[in-house]
Amino acid sequence: MAENIKVMLPEEELDRRITELGEQISKDYAGESVFLAVTLRGAVFFGCELAKRISVPVTIDFLQTSSYGGGTVSTGEVKIVKDLELPVEGQNLIVVEDIIDSGHTLNHLSKVMKDRHPKSFAIATMLDKPDRREVDVDVDYTGFTIPDAFVVGYGLDYDQRYRNLPYIGVVES
Ligand code: IMP
Ligand code: MG
Repeated sequence: MAENIKVMLPEEELDRRITELGEQISKDYAGESVFLAVTLRGAVFFGCELAKRISVPVTIDFLQTSSYGGGTVSTGEVKIVKDLELPVEGQNLIVVEDIIDSGHTLNHLSKVMKDRHPKSFAIATMLDKPDRREVDVDVDYTGFTIPDAFVVGYGLDYDQRYRNLPYIGVVES
């Protein structure tokens, strides 16, 4: 069955906000460099757009955590299935995530990454759904806070589809 997608955040709005985040990060890390640890696969679109808007030196690497499978509900169990390839010790590490939902993914990732002794640690997320939080996460850079809805596009998928949409939308069946 084909689903309809209702636009929640158009491309221009995402673009504008990501530019602001890039400027903020460039200001906060002036005179330093940053290491963006981008989570696969959802945060790739946001991560690339953000990186393009950061004016201090940037290193990019990728990691992947275990996901929801085909469903839309978190199990609370998080595993790193593909790790970073570069060391983060001594780096100004920023974990770049697509969306924070229950918080389990970033809660776990924060602990793992802090154990690797970066110089500093921060989290940047394109979207946040605080209503669904089950564990606390300290978020430094948030693109948009959104209500509790399952969203797709700009990297986010539903059953591996819709990642390529240039906007954030809600699937209406
Ligand atoms: P958390 O561990 O529950 O915070 O889940 C975060 C991960 O769940 C995100 O990185 C996404 O991959 C996925 N996710 C959560 N909400 C959505 C959504 O609305 N659309 C698509 N993926 C989502
Ligand atoms: Mg993700």
